[in-house]
Amino acid sequence: MIALSNPRYNGGFFMAPAPRATAAGYICCMHIDILTVLPGLLESPFAHSIMKRAQEKGLLTVAVHPLRQWAVNEYGQVDDYQYGGGAGMVMMCEPLAHAIEALCAKGAYDEIIFLTPDGETFDQPMANQLSLKKRLLLICGHYKGIDQRIRDHFVTREISIGDYVLSGGELPAAVVVDAIGRLIPGVLNDETSALTDSFQDQLLSPPVYTRPEEFRGWKVPDILLSGNHRLIEEWRHEQALERTRTRRPDMLND
Ligand code: ADE
Repeated sequence: MIALSNPRYNGGFFMAPAPRATAAGYICCMHIDILTVLPGLLESPFAHSIMKRAQEKGLLTVAVHPLRQWAVNEYGQVDDYQYGGGAGMVMMCEPLAHAIEALCAKGAYDEIIFLTPDGETFDQPMANQLSLKKRLLLICGHYKGIDQRIRDHFVTREISIGDYVLSGGELPAAVVVDAIGRLIPGVLNDETSALTDSFQDQLLSPPVYTRPEEFRGWKVPDILLSGNHRLIEEWRHEQALERTRTRRPDMLND
């Protein structure tokens, strides 16, 4: 479980580590708080691979906060029927406002983000921009959504991960944290690998190959075995262009 087993967890909050120089000389560090009614959904995404390494290196801390800590009664109530009638419960102002204020008291946020299908569509430029921030709060919606007054008075940014509706904001929050976290300097071992991702230069990535040179008669393109780095870069660029032209022509028209 990411929160409880983490040594920085101190009974409800992670403390963001003080920025420090890493072995690679970086001093960046980002802290992300996530507010949710389903903390269990966020146990795994940050406990493996690159996100785990980012936290081990002290470059990123992610703290998941169960909203029911701020419930309005002993039954753990955080939602209620919507005014005006209609199906679906709405997440109440009181628990959200108290949670946000308690978290803000630990340090100001650069952005308070609500994950919602009617937000701005998340993309690589937005991930790049958010990766420069130091402290973010992500609010995961559920049921019919959250009371509009929280959006009006606390939320600074609303993000959608695509034009489809998920059951809640937890998976979108995990997507956003992953996309941002891997861009923090020092998180990836090979610094250039984030820069050569699809979308970073407005092109999809070219095809990649690894050993063996031949598998079932299917050969690796000769150029990649040539050792000529200039020609290899040219080939990769052409392949990236071609792939973008055929799969995502819209990216070339913008
Ligand atoms: N919550 C439900 N669906 C969502 C989406 N597509 N993006 C962000 N948050 C959501």
